[in-house]
Amino acid sequence: MDQNKRPDSMERITTLALAQTFIDEQVKAVQEQVGDKKVLLALSGGVDSSVVAALLIKAIGKQLVCVHVNHGLMRKGESENVIEVFKNGLDANLIYVDATDRFLDLLAGVSDPEKKRKIIGAEFIKVFDEESAKLDGISFLAQGTIYPDILESIKQAKGKKAVKSHHNVGGLPEDMEMQLVEPIKLLFKDEVRVVGEALGLPHAMVYRQPFPGPGLGVRCLGAITRDRLHALREADAILREEFDNCGLAEKVWQYFVAIPDVKSVGVKDESRYEGWPAIIRAVNTTDAMTATIEEIPYPVLHKITARITNEVDGINRVLFDLTPKPTGTIEWE
Ligand code: XMP
Repeated sequence: MDQNKRPDSMERITTLALAQTFIDEQVKAVQEQVGDKKVLLALSGGVDSSVVAALLIKAIGKQLVCVHVNHGLMRKGESENVIEVFKNGLDANLIYVDATDRFLDLLAGVSDPEKKRKIIGAEFIKVFDEESAKLDGISFLAQGTIYPDILESIKQAKGKKAVKSHHNVGGLPEDMEMQLVEPIKLLFKDEVRVVGEALGLPHAMVYRQPFPGPGLGVRCLGAITRDRLHALREADAILREEFDNCGLAEKVWQYFVAIPDVKSVGVKDESRYEGWPAIIRAVNTTDAMTATIEEIPYPVLHKITARITNEVDGINRVLFDLTPKPTGTIEWE
């Protein structure tokens, strides 16, 4: 039987009861596969790796070693939240690596989007490898692979050209000695969320909007600077807070701020004030291949504009991106 093919008979996991059955089966399967050995997991805080972490903690407890690499391109509060949920909440064996300076130093002055993506992807693997080399006796590598990832790699193997070099964990070394543990590889995203809820993960984590591997790095457009990255993180947090407040967070598939490397003339406290524009993007899609624009009520946009321009240093304008995909991709880079 092809382990990477979802059997036609596999029931869609739509309820907590079905999720519980799946969890029980996987706990047993993982225990059998792993025995008393140790398993390593790159825990980004995204839905997939979080669900795998919670599932494996249930199955093998401290035999799971989670490594959370903060590349300095996380959204506001995100790394703190990973520590709170997994280390404090689930008593996970969690190694936290703050690699912010390494990433930002490497990215300084790099404006080409593909170069930025490649640097972030390669450095991520490097940091992760360095951390795992410090650990003794790891026999398995867990991954949050899900079924669309498998379908996508089959498509790419058939020669379709990728629009962007997406990355999560990235290419695994061919001579890797660790065996893979991929407990959710036959699940679709909606099923992963139900399983996450059944495992008791916070709703906000399980229903988190998609966030690209290179993080805010592809939203701080052009060459990343620390001051513009800081402004982006603060503006993005305000956008998320306001979308939460008015119920849009539940309705819109993906929403975020991007900031270009451009300044315009503005006025603040009766003086000339040169600042960046914050670009808001709010899109709906089913498969991320095409996307439409959510109609945000003007009062909401006015409130977000007022808050961002008043509360975030360096921003003097707010723009709303009306471009569907195509012609725009969802991310700006
Ligand atoms: P684009 O910009 O290609 O994005 O229209 C489609 C979806 O993919 C997300 N995205 C990524 N996700 N690693 C990821 O895991 C990446 O490198 C990456 N780049 C883009 C994007 O946020 C959108 O949801």
